Amino acid sequence: MTQTIMVTGGTSGMGKAMALALKEAGWNVIVTGRDLERLQQMDHELKQIAGEHLTIQMDVRDTDACIAAVNQARETFGRLEALVNNAAGNFICPTDELSPNGWKTVIDIVLNGTFNCSHALVKGWQEDDVKGGQILNIVASYAWQAGAGVAPSAAAKAGVLNLTRTLAVEWGYKYHARINAISPGPIERTGGADKLAMSPEHAERIRRNVPLGRFGTPEEIAGLAVWMLSDQASYLNGECIALDGGHWLNKQPF
Ligand code: HXC
Repeated sequence: MTQTIMVTGGTSGMGKAMALALKEAGWNVIVTGRDLERLQQMDHELKQIAGEHLTIQMDVRDTDACIAAVNQARETFGRLEALVNNAAGNFICPTDELSPNGWKTVIDIVLNGTFNCSHALVKGWQEDDVKGGQILNIVASYAWQAGAGVAPSAAAKAGVLNLTRTLAVEWGYKYHARINAISPGPIERTGGADKLAMSPEHAERIRRNVPLGRFGTPEEIAGLAVWMLSDQASYLNGECIALDGGHWLNKQPF
């Protein structure tokens, strides 16, 4: 039976690439996003690929909207097995200059948004008796390192990484679910790259710090996501895979 997956923040960058690749791989795909025009464009692109899909306008910060989106997916496809928590928000700001609302905004999108969607999903699993469902979270290596200049995102991603491991145990036992994460490095054509690589010189400095000497592509992230969500990865649970050309390991101490 065709399985169904929801990708949040799925109208651009890695989310878009994952949604397209998952539909190519045979999933029913639900794409959520805040921007109606981008959703319409995504709907058009998804139509070029065989199979079923839905686009839903929503903000992961809105708990009720997350519940409604999960229920719409369940009503359309019978049940919702899987979720990619891709929606994120981030900006560079020294922490001593950050406003409390700036902190709250990023934590709300990244950490609370991941919880909102995961919690709505598990309620659907309970009602539909889904076993073997999945969640794929997107983190960053500053989840386990320092994130100078991006404190709210780093703290939120650390929370998401811990939630990945915690739910892998809780929901592994209870629902035979697999909860995993990807930690992308610098990836071209993404909101992260656009915001964090502030100038061509800065982008070049980042590139030089990647042992493989280049930014990754959204399609490479999508390839890993498709595999992690496939039966080939059926024993993978609670794991975070860094797909970053060796970027986070490169400390160049000598
Ligand atoms: C300081 C800022 C700021 C900035 C916003 N704020 N941008 N503070 N520097 N550059 C503050 C605002 O002043 C405000 O606080 C509060 O944050 C909320 O701002 P809004 O613009 O009202 O928020 P909103 O419209 O909800 O937009 C959320 C957003 C926005 C996060 C600010 O950028 C967004 O929607 N981003 C989504 C896409 C995105 O960021 N993608 C990149 C993900 S990269 P006050 O106090 O003034 O009210 C990623 C990791 C990459 O996740 C890792 C790479 C290795």
